[in-house]
Amino acid sequence: MRGVGFVFVLVSLLGAIATTSFASTVTYDHRALVIDGKRRVLISGSIHYPRSTPDMWPDLIQKSKDGGLDVIETYVFWNLHEPVRRQYDFKGRNDLVKFVKTVAEAGLYVHLRIGPYVCAEWNYGGFPLWLHFIPGIQFRTDNGPFKEEMQIFTAKIVDMMKKENLYASQGGPIILSQIENEYGNIDSAYGSAAKSYIQWAASMATSLDTGVPWVMCQQADAPDPMINTCNGFYCDQFTPNSVKKPKMWTENWTGWFLSFGGAAPYRPVEDIAFAVARFFQLGGTFQNYYMYHGGTNFGRTTGGPFIATSYDYDAPIDEYGLLRQPKWGHLKDLHKAIKLCEAALIATDPTITSLGTNLEASVYKTGTGSCAAFLANVRTNSDATVNFSGNSYHLPAWSVSILPDCKNVALNTAQINSMAVMPRFMQQSLKNDIDSSDGFQSGWSWVDEPVGISKNNAFTKLGLLEQINVTADKSDYLWYSLSTEIQGDEPFLEDGSQTVLHVESLGHALHAFINGKLAGSGTGNSGNAKVTEDIPVTLIHGKNTIDLLSLTVGLQNYGAFYDKQGAGITGPVKLKGLANGTTVDLSSQQWTYQVGLQGEELGLPSGSSSKWVSGSTLPKKQPLIWYKTTFDAPAGNDPVALHFIGMGKGEAWVNGQSIGRYWPAYVSSNSGCTSSCDYRGPYNSNKCLKNCGKPSQQLYHVPRSWLKPSGNTLVLFEEIGGDPTQISFATKQVESLCSRVSEYHPLPVDMWGSDLTTGRKSSPMLSLECPFPNQVISSIKFASFGTPHGTCGSFSHSKCSSRMALSIVQEACIGSKSCSIGVSIDTFGDPCRGIAKSLAVEASCT
Ligand code: GAL
Repeated sequence: MRGVGFVFVLVSLLGAIATTSFASTVTYDHRALVIDGKRRVLISGSIHYPRSTPDMWPDLIQKSKDGGLDVIETYVFWNLHEPVRRQYDFKGRNDLVKFVKTVAEAGLYVHLRIGPYVCAEWNYGGFPLWLHFIPGIQFRTDNGPFKEEMQIFTAKIVDMMKKENLYASQGGPIILSQIENEYGNIDSAYGSAAKSYIQWAASMATSLDTGVPWVMCQQADAPDPMINTCNGFYCDQFTPNSVKKPKMWTENWTGWFLSFGGAAPYRPVEDIAFAVARFFQLGGTFQNYYMYHGGTNFGRTTGGPFIATSYDYDAPIDEYGLLRQPKWGHLKDLHKAIKLCEAALIATDPTITSLGTNLEASVYKTGTGSCAAFLANVRTNSDATVNFSGNSYHLPAWSVSILPDCKNVALNTAQINSMAVMPRFMQQSLKNDIDSSDGFQSGWSWVDEPVGISKNNAFTKLGLLEQINVTADKSDYLWYSLSTEIQGDEPFLEDGSQTVLHVESLGHALHAFINGKLAGSGTGNSGNAKVTEDIPVTLIHGKNTIDLLSLTVGLQNYGAFYDKQGAGITGPVKLKGLANGTTVDLSSQQWTYQVGLQGEELGLPSGSSSKWVSGSTLPKKQPLIWYKTTFDAPAGNDPVALHFIGMGKGEAWVNGQSIGRYWPAYVSSNSGCTSSCDYRGPYNSNKCLKNCGKPSQQLYHVPRSWLKPSGNTLVLFEEIGGDPTQISFATKQVESLCSRVSEYHPLPVDMWGSDLTTGRKSSPMLSLECPFPNQVISSIKFASFGTPHGTCGSFSHSKCSSRMALSIVQEACIGSKSCSIGVSIDTFGDPCRGIAKSLAVEASCT
């Protein structure tokens, strides 16, 4: 024992020495964050730890590092960590310390955005629901009860990080922290209390003494020493509120989030690269991609209303953890080009000159001879040739060229050298353990969820209640039930028996049952959560039951007073006679309420219950059914999704873990999508949409680590009606690689030093590399040197096309893991003189 004790003391001592010796000082000045006395150019990316699994973290972080990131940014999600007041949870996906340590192990820094208001398309903006029920509380303003809770949680997180020595000042990876989030966007609604709240938040944060700087994003009046930072699609025009603070960009949106009912937004990498290069051109030194990996909103974590389960975000690493190419690769090249300029960037402010209308040069020149330049063409549709320092440069519209030596171009943001990877989802049926002995005909068993009141927590109240106050978000579901007696001479029955049930709800969706049968449904949308429905109903003489199932789809996460938005059937609820317009208002009657479903109470999501029924009469296309099956995991390591074709709306659990809400029945509008999106010109979240007229989300990620090779349980709760036997797997794979590089592209940025030192005049290069280990390029599906038409996946030859292209590319690539080919007439001959040519290749790997 003594020996163990001695070793322990020694290890602790060594640990303490190591901590002290590696501790860094992090400060800032006008130009940059300063780490150990050195100004730094830092590239950062957001990965939110609960949006993936701990098994995915090391790979995601390594891919971020390989992509050229220095920093990983994450919010801290209060409602995950303190679901019940003073009861904390830091396990599994909530293991913040483990996440921060994983980043440290990869040698990257961390920006910890504590908030604790985070927005983030996260349920209730990250606030726990119990906060709402504290007497006298007002969120995000100068309010005692709120400030007290905010301080307790913020201090808890800071203490936790300190205990683990995770701040850079202690030798850890955290170089930066954030308090609040974009409060400046909405603070005017809070009047003068907003000012004092922000003052308080700043001094509260400072008093926690983390030893590293704090930021406030989108907060022009952020008090010293808080650094006010910028969020947006572009931040080149931003200036901080003091010359003592550096220009920092905390959210560069790499795409946008998906809503149920919406089309899928995407953002072309040429535009992202342009925005980043402009930011560094005009004095920026810290830039964060929001998101670098978006991931998945598992369980009921999505904000809202109507934020989808996928939080892919069109980020450089996709929802499943695979590289999105060429986005990831082009940004990697961009980061290299920017880092080549670091010495000059941190030394001085840029000197900016005009090279013509909307043509701009920035030069960073130091006394010691380093010089870096950025040449921008900010025109949205005309390319330009500019003269700079005696040389001529071609600048495509909406692009920036980066010249790390003020002479040679290392990268142009609109000219992509990186290959594209075309993914595909391979569909595969759910291999059910169909065992005839257990009576499974279809491999599925089921439980009916009763319509209306079935639990003994039901209660009655006069009038209609707001939903969130009743459910405290313990469940998406709240039943509003009423029994009403219809006399034979009721005036609204005069026309026969057809009546209309008029229901008004604050949202987010509802299903109306009359006498136990679904009569109609209604749903709001991401722009307007409210639901107003007129549902034709058939009433009978005597007693009728009206059961309204109201549901939330993620609680509001953004806007002034967002917490007061409310949900549910607040009325009026009326019965309208069709013939003579007679109306009976039911709103202030005695309603019976039930929070949640019977199946939730019975623990059906876990799969284990004696209630499951099996047999040949599997109910299909009927509302309110729980379904269960067992299945084997798809072979191999490819990421797995469930394809919810044939289903309506509900939630799904794999081995008891919720993979989130599914809603393939919510189809996006037919309009608003573009077949190709012009990256040129200012981007906004509606500019580039795809998937119009299709289900907003059909594929739902099932993390590999949640699956066993066989005997997995899948449970679904289906609200509207569906056929679960149609559900299949999809594994995400690579269809092909492709690339198109012109004679006028810059050389690969990797060749920067070598090419200059050897003085060799190389040509641009087209490079391909199989994405997975043990793969080689097995076929060339297309190769053309000349003026090929089309884009990746749909290339075709034009008249100008070298005959040798295919054989040259085959020779160079087949059988190899990667290959590079010079894009020049020296390699391919000249199929059409005087015309700019490019090489286009599509290949596949096996
Ligand atoms: C920002 C916010 C983020 C996220 C983003 C949109 O305004 O700070 O948390 O919500 O918008 O994805």
